[in-house]
Amino acid sequence: MKCVLITGGAGGIGLGCASYFAGKGWSVFIADINGEACPEAARSIDGADFAVTDVASEESVKACVERCVKRFGRIDALINNAGIANPFTEPVESLSLEEWNRVIGVNLTGAFLMTKHCVPYLRKTNGSIINMASTRAFQSEKNSESYAASKGGLTALTHASAVSLGPDVRVNCICPGWINVSGYRTSERDHAQHPAGRVGKAEDIASLAYYLVSDEAKFITGQSFTADGGMTVKMIYED
Ligand SMILES: NC(=O)c1ccc[n+]([C@@H]2O[C@H](COP(=O)([O-])OP(=O)(O)OC[C@H]3O[C@@H](n4cnc5c(N)ncnc54)[C@H](O)[C@@H]3O)[C@@H](O)[C@H]2O)c1
Repeated sequence: MKCVLITGGAGGIGLGCASYFAGKGWSVFIADINGEACPEAARSIDGADFAVTDVASEESVKACVERCVKRFGRIDALINNAGIANPFTEPVESLSLEEWNRVIGVNLTGAFLMTKHCVPYLRKTNGSIINMASTRAFQSEKNSESYAASKGGLTALTHASAVSLGPDVRVNCICPGWINVSGYRTSERDHAQHPAGRVGKAEDIASLAYYLVSDEAKFITGQSFTADGGMTVKMIYED
């Protein structure tokens, strides 16, 4: 049975990916810093296991990968999805170095550390990595410098590691737009402004991740794919 390790899998898009892959018959290993939600998420999925993990800590990442391999014996896919999902911080003039480093540490360095420790196992299975960036890698609102930089960094990490790890391991990136995972009450207008006619769901991202790790996508590596219901191709002029 193939095994996927999903970071930030205790909720939101990560949990959506976990259920989707489990539904396709994969073993699922969830790595998340949330000590309550992480075991709960694993319990909600048949046969899943977990390790409470801080992706920004190399020691924690190493222990997580060892536990996953001990439990399932292999890793076929790594989904680097853990992130500080709120893009907004202080304005850049008052943004502390500590806060900048915290966002980069989780969102970008976390993906590097997981990649580093999973690669020996992914090579054995001709496996695949998905990095979860954001359309904010390409466009911004005010006061989101650290988040945008971390997501832009993930798109670059994706092509760099695809070149280094090929042909053994493929690496791709997903750039989601607005994916409603928090139960936020969306209005008609929220949906209608998307060319696709609605705000996104976790399954929209999970199905793309599943395709990209599958054999159907064997010729695709180093690429970033936007899944945003068309929002980033829509031209907007303010009156
Ligand atoms: N929801 C969206 O609209 C959207 C859009 C673009 C990109 N994204 C990206 O998708 C990913 C998932 O976002 P989401 O909306 O599901 O958010 P979420 O907050 O529901 O999930 C993020 C998960 O990451 C975990 N996490 C945070 N810090 C961690 C750490 N140091 N180590 C391990 N786990 C950690 C959290 O506990 C949480 O379970 C994030 O990387 C986010 O930036 C989300």
